[in-house]
Amino acid sequence: MLDDVLTVDTVLADLPTRWLGRPAHVFASLPSTNIWLMEQARQSAPAGTLTVADVQTAGKGRLGRVWSAPPGAGLLFSLLFHVAGPADMGRLLMVVGTGVAAGLSDHLGVAARLKWPNDVLVHDRKLCGILGEATELPATPPASGTAYAAVIGIGLNVNISLDDLPPPPVGGLPPTSLLVELGHPVPRVPLLHTLLTAIETRYDALQGGVSPLAEYRRLCATLGKPVRVTIGERVVEGVAEDVTDAGYLVVRQADSQRVEVHAGDVTLRAS
Ligand code: BTN
Repeated sequence: MLDDVLTVDTVLADLPTRWLGRPAHVFASLPSTNIWLMEQARQSAPAGTLTVADVQTAGKGRLGRVWSAPPGAGLLFSLLFHVAGPADMGRLLMVVGTGVAAGLSDHLGVAARLKWPNDVLVHDRKLCGILGEATELPATPPASGTAYAAVIGIGLNVNISLDDLPPPPVGGLPPTSLLVELGHPVPRVPLLHTLLTAIETRYDALQGGVSPLAEYRRLCATLGKPVRVTIGERVVEGVAEDVTDAGYLVVRQADSQRVEVHAGDVTLRAS
């Protein structure tokens, strides 16, 4: 049996990061790490705070969906950042998405790619979902440049067998897990350390003026593909041409019009 217990002690022991993941709050069960951390953010939790849960009873996915994972088999965590405004969310999500994909590739050798905006795929199956949420912090002076709390939640399918993976959402990609891809279980704590380090490195680089865009473009499997993007009632169809520095998807429609898409659900179309 894999020695894979998530506690504050196991998570903090030998954690190689400088600030990300500190402090750490680790729970056997929570409704949602995103909801819990957002509440802490409103009560002045510091940037870098990590929340991990072995089980979520009301895990949140993108676009109002549910995120579910069997107990003890997923890596379910949220990270708190302070940002100047919601416009910073796109770059922050690129930092986290590229960090997760590159961390998985470096640590385990899996060929992780990104599906815009921030699904992590292996062999065109969804391995990991990322949910970003922001809220204004009323107590922070706007001039501080950190008036918003950004909670980024990461749900990674680790030791989940094929039979225990949740069904895909309608029109969505089939899920996969590291166990399915690699054929063996993966200890979660060292994996969490790798992901936190990869995200911290990229976040620090962003603070130093280095955009995550070049790495995002390299890892993004959506670019160059014919896509249909659904944004509420609106549908944009065309070829996914590029991603902007702010993280928007650039779609070239059949009439040559260039459309920037800020949020939405992407499906690939037959070309
Ligand atoms: C998606 O729909 O692709 C995003 C899924 C994000 C799930 C993670 S699990 C940890 C964190 N807490 C939540 O409630 N959701 C995110």
